[in-house]
Amino acid sequence: MSDSDEGKTWPEVERRRAPDRRRHERRRGDRRNEAAWIPVPLDGPASNEPALLDAARQARLRAQADYSGFKVGAALELADGSIATGCNIENATYGLTLCAERVALVKALSDGHTKFTRIAVAADTAQPTPPCGPCRQLLWEYCGDIEVILSNLDGPTARLRLADLLPMPFDSRLLK
Ligand code: THU
Repeated sequence: MSDSDEGKTWPEVERRRAPDRRRHERRRGDRRNEAAWIPVPLDGPASNEPALLDAARQARLRAQADYSGFKVGAALELADGSIATGCNIENATYGLTLCAERVALVKALSDGHTKFTRIAVAADTAQPTPPCGPCRQLLWEYCGDIEVILSNLDGPTARLRLADLLPMPFDSRLLK
């Protein structure tokens, strides 16, 4: 509030400041680095990729996503070749939402599995649906640089490595 604002009601002050403030605001799209969305070609699909994608699509059908309407499924491949699945689980607080990737990860960890090779994510979108930031962090912590296969209902939309999605991770090496 400046001196000239004295005596004015707060809405009047806000109205005066609003256009100025908007000029400094970044538009939502500005922050996205489109280059990061270019999929990194891997050696080719793993032989069991169809099974992994199918497991992710099946898990997606169990999503508890009434609030967003955005259903996601994940299938995490364990080192022994078996698969742990997860779907997103929303609730009335919104903020306590669990993403499909983290559900798959915690299910596998709590069953005693600690070695992972790849994760498939399935959503009904033309564009790839990549794991959110917190999921990337947890996947990095417990899975390392695994393959990440993004898919929609028709098939894969991108194949990446987790390090490409999280290029400068914070992890336990920095705690030493
Ligand atoms: N979601 C996931 O489960 N995984 C992703 O990779 C992206 C987002 C969920 C969270 C929320 O339930 C809904 O999708 C919309 O953000």
